[in-house]
Amino acid sequence: VHEVPPSLSAKVVGSFAYLTIRDRLPTILTKVIDTIHRNKNKFFEEYGEEGIHAEKQAISLLSKLRNELQTDKPVLPLTDDQQDTESWNQYLQRQQRLQGDQESVSWFKSPWLYVECYMYRKIQEALLLNPPISDFDVFNEGKTQSYFESQRAIMALCTYLEGIKKNMEELSKNQLFEHFNKFLQASLWGNKCDLSISAGQENSQKTSPIESLSSLQPFVLVDDSNLVWSTLISAQRPGQTGMTSASRVDIVLDNAGFELVTDLVLADFLVSSGLARQIHFHGKSFPWFVSDVTANDFQWTIRQTMAANHKWMSKSGVQWQHFVKEGVWCYHDHPFWTQPHEFCDMAADAPDLYASLQGADLALFKGDLNYRKLTGDRDWDHTVSFNAALRGFGPAPLCSLRTLKANVQVGLQPGQGEKLTSNDPNWMTSGKYAIIQFYSQKSE
Ligand code: F6P
Ligand code: MG
Repeated sequence: VHEVPPSLSAKVVGSFAYLTIRDRLPTILTKVIDTIHRNKNKFFEEYGEEGIHAEKQAISLLSKLRNELQTDKPVLPLTDDQQDTESWNQYLQRQQRLQGDQESVSWFKSPWLYVECYMYRKIQEALLLNPPISDFDVFNEGKTQSYFESQRAIMALCTYLEGIKKNMEELSKNQLFEHFNKFLQASLWGNKCDLSISAGQENSQKTSPIESLSSLQPFVLVDDSNLVWSTLISAQRPGQTGMTSASRVDIVLDNAGFELVTDLVLADFLVSSGLARQIHFHGKSFPWFVSDVTANDFQWTIRQTMAANHKWMSKSGVQWQHFVKEGVWCYHDHPFWTQPHEFCDMAADAPDLYASLQGADLALFKGDLNYRKLTGDRDWDHTVSFNAALRGFGPAPLCSLRTLKANVQVGLQPGQGEKLTSNDPNWMTSGKYAIIQFYSQKSE
């Protein structure tokens, strides 16, 4: 049994958490303020003077928030009236108890994971308190832009997918495994394209994703793709017509734009090849960490791909829409995904979500933030096992597909972390390295 290490925090001056809170978060808030301001005319056209008033009020709340962050003021309870408000405020009390009464929960002293999540919820609060603009997605422009800027890579990926689907029946098991690996890796590296690490700077995919996969292989620090494959194969149960697959794969989504397309392509391949019967996608219920997928982004991306002026792209899009209509694919959101909890709290704090994930034969967790939550965003030794860091979380066999953008990494070989640090001191935060890290209770 391992002692649980402390949460990463901006308390450690100079750490990545510290730099994120000092530099990156205020930049993101400034961009949000700017976006709301630039949309002033739109709000006026839609809601008249009320719209202008809402714009002013929201901006003033957000400027106040930025100031509180920069001067390390105490974190305040939420004042809106949503389904999740109470549980956020309880979580604040929980943090306060953990920290003791000596000092308040504040931006630079408390866990980075908590205060960073809190910032996105406070942005939501500023909009919710100003009803005419409460549905406005302050990150929408960036997300759609990153989709359009990745258009060529999307075309290449869809063309590749449709090419393989043409003679799927003739593939040997080995060939199927090779293709599976390619789509899994495309989805993995798709995670490089998130907008929060660059504080919303342009970060799209320009080159053909499939061609660059082999040159990226050396940067995959943990590669459990064999275990993911064998999980899918062993979940296959014989059906009426020979081997029909009965497995359900859940994908806990991360970013919109190119990454989402790589996830949809992987999901299409899994279903079309018979490796999975059903895919459950999990997204966010409000705009989150700049580029994360909401229901609106999910639908928009499928419609956009469908309507593309490119044969294979539109063919893929039409297929995806069909999967959604038929219920082969379904999209869910749950308030837990936009809360600050470590996933080891899920069974107690969101038992309905935990129970629903238990229905999956495999759950894929995309991206860095999900990895931080899987491991509790703690200062683990790199050689601690993934299982130990999960601290009992394991509703289903699960796999993290993540490019490294925060300083937490477990499950490495002895010496591997030290070697990386001496060759490339920023290996944990540059997004240059990645992991395919699997855990199943059955494999223990
Ligand atoms: O600091 C960079 C950061 O904002 C992290 O806080 C977060 O873990 C990551 O970017 C978001 O990345 P992803 O979209 O892969 O979860
Ligand atoms: Mg993200």
